[in-house]
Amino acid sequence: MADEWDSDVRGPISDFDPFSDMYTAETAMDTNRRLRRCPIGRSVGHGGFWTLARHADVLEGFRLDGRELSARHETLDDGTVLGGVTLPPTSTHLGMIEQDPPIYTPLRRSLAQHFTRKAMAARRPRIDALASALLDRRIESGEAEILDDLIRPLAGIATLELLGLPLEGLARFAYPVHSASHDLSKADGLRRIWSSLKADIADVIASRAGQEPRDDLIGAVSLLEVPDWPPSTDFVVDTVFILLLGGVETVTGLFSGTLQHLDAHPEHRARLAADPDLLDSSFHEYLRFITPTTQNARTVLADLEIGGQEMSRGDRIYLNLYSANHDEEVFERPDEVILDRSPNRHMALGHGLHRCIGEHLAKELWTSMMVEVLTRIPDFAVVPGEAVPIVERGLNNGFVSMPVTFTPGAPRHLDDTAADDVSRALLSLRDM
Ligand code: HEM
Repeated sequence: MADEWDSDVRGPISDFDPFSDMYTAETAMDTNRRLRRCPIGRSVGHGGFWTLARHADVLEGFRLDGRELSARHETLDDGTVLGGVTLPPTSTHLGMIEQDPPIYTPLRRSLAQHFTRKAMAARRPRIDALASALLDRRIESGEAEILDDLIRPLAGIATLELLGLPLEGLARFAYPVHSASHDLSKADGLRRIWSSLKADIADVIASRAGQEPRDDLIGAVSLLEVPDWPPSTDFVVDTVFILLLGGVETVTGLFSGTLQHLDAHPEHRARLAADPDLLDSSFHEYLRFITPTTQNARTVLADLEIGGQEMSRGDRIYLNLYSANHDEEVFERPDEVILDRSPNRHMALGHGLHRCIGEHLAKELWTSMMVEVLTRIPDFAVVPGEAVPIVERGLNNGFVSMPVTFTPGAPRHLDDTAADDVSRALLSLRDM
């Protein structure tokens, strides 16, 4: 995979392209295994990039983040192009996540207060009520589509509420995010969808002008303060955009991947149903195993060496999280799910400076819907041959759709308000 040497590219040439046939649902695990065995190689596609595939190398990359490596997305005065946090770079700036210290530090500190374990645990009763209302709508029929009926609206509604966007905006705000986001190499489709979403976010922010700031995330983002760096309106919109982008599809990928695995492993399903305390470690083990966000990217700011390979200012780096999370040097039986794996040094939520701010929200959402499924439709079965995986693994892992059947049950009608809110949100999807 990286056995030639080319002096022009200063290292072994690799044929690795995460947006090609070598990185699909069928081939990615095998490709990663080969990448981990080879020296760090440089691919020429997508503007050229180094791939870090071993756990130790990805960890080192994260250790250098914000100093020798940059998350920024802009062209510097000396012409160095910084490509942000994805490979290839997105057509749009992603706000806070594409900043380095010192500007980044106060931004992260301010927003982190809204995502603490305690703040997210306080949202759990509402999340449980929404999850229960969503399953109520399907339970009598004995069939459901796991993504559209259950987890995507749950993650979507919870994210809209956190941000302070209207529930009727489920179709407008939370769903355009998923429709084309798996293959960043198809830039045109993404550019169109994302620009229209950002215009909608800008309208909401503009409509709040002159009002008292509200106690929600849009309010918090609008009030962000950085010494000598007043955030522009575009930056505020971009940061709201990344909060939407972060919340919905990642949780959907994790949950659908978990159910597919439980469908194929009844022994795991039985263990989880019998011992809900296992959900804690299982959340991290499924994160590791599935790795819903399979890559992060950075740009080299100062010449450096990682894994024995020298890299220069301006070089792009692909941090292969999916591979690092299956590295046999760190994880025993890496391609198996071990529900109580400990320690579990996965990097599915990133690591260090930009580690996922939404971890606790993701955990509440996943756990809440897992409890619903394990207690109310414990005999669910994925309809054979009907689950459609995300084929391109360059950016995301999970499923596009997953129909299941189960023994019909009775609705619980736990919370009328949640049921009405769910109806209102889902109504907005009718015209999609
Ligand atoms: C299973 C669910 C999730 C996964 C796998 C995931 C994955 C990640 C990863 C890998 C990063 C690091 C990015 C980097 O370093 O370049 C990250 C950061 C981030 N995530 Fe998540 N995420 C999840 C859920 C969420 C949720 C629910 C939200 C919010 C509503 C969210 C919002 C963010 C934001 C804003 C960042 C940037 C943080 C920063 O730059 O300080 N994520 N996430």
